[in-house]
Amino acid sequence: MNKVTAQMSVSLDGFYAGPKHVGGPEDWTASAEAAGFFRVTRWVLDAMAWRDRLGYKGGEQNTNSDIIAETWAAAGAYVMGRRMADGGLESWGDVPPFRAPVFVVTHRPQKTLVRQGGNSFTYVTDGIASAIDQARAVAGGKNVAVAGGGHLLRQVLKDGLLDELELHIAPVVLGTGMRLLREDLRLADKEAIELTPTRVIHTPEVTHIRYTVNGRGALAADGRSSGDISGVSDLR
Ligand SMILES: NC(=O)c1ccc[n+]([C@@H]2O[C@H](COP(=O)([O-])OP(=O)(O)OC[C@H]3O[C@@H](n4cnc5c(N)ncnc54)[C@H](OP(=O)(O)O)[C@@H]3O)[C@@H](O)[C@H]2O)c1
Repeated sequence: MNKVTAQMSVSLDGFYAGPKHVGGPEDWTASAEAAGFFRVTRWVLDAMAWRDRLGYKGGEQNTNSDIIAETWAAAGAYVMGRRMADGGLESWGDVPPFRAPVFVVTHRPQKTLVRQGGNSFTYVTDGIASAIDQARAVAGGKNVAVAGGGHLLRQVLKDGLLDELELHIAPVVLGTGMRLLREDLRLADKEAIELTPTRVIHTPEVTHIRYTVNGRGALAADGRSSGDISGVSDLR
């Protein structure tokens, strides 16, 4: 069965954009939110695969570009938060880069937008699980990719709907901004979400770490804490 995957570029201190912009979309590009976003996604903006898709000239054909191309090839449909869709639709032009159906999670009903190149944006108001189901139905056996933003991705993780997470960690400390993994994951005391790293690719611009999401688990002191590992089953 196809997987539900997610990708996010973050700073070393875990921010996917700068502090949330409170003005209108017209001045978003000049905002602190955008400045942080453009820094952590600089590796994307410089990559040939991204620039090609948007019809921009130039760009670098390198490992980062290969990773973007690989991600697109693996995805048959996308799920996206309404804020990301609003911002992106301003800048992606007539042919957005997805070339596949996109399901936008929102509380605000809106007519489906059809753009060139196989792009469509269907607004889903009955929840994230429904958006994922609708995406899966048209993904043709490929992955359903959660494209962002962080608010949406966190809920997909919180609700146990995510199979695979890939973080692209840019070597920069932003100090403040929109943090990807934070308290509204609503983990209980002594509870955690466990992941297994399955691939690490390092480049000078960014480190790509892919994880399988194992799910929620209990945190408890076991024999390790007293030095007795006789009953510890997963000692590595
Ligand atoms: N660093 C990266 O790799 C990366 C990638 C993508 C985006 N971004 C950045 O992320 C920012 C946008 O992300 P964000 O976290 O602010 O917002 P977001 O996740 O894109 O969208 C949040 C919106 O999605 C809707 N939504 C979320 N959960 C919902 C639910 N359970 N039911 C119904 N609707 C729901 C709501 O829309 P309504 O208000 O319409 O109800 C909510 O306001 C932008 O700065 C963008 O540039 C960064």
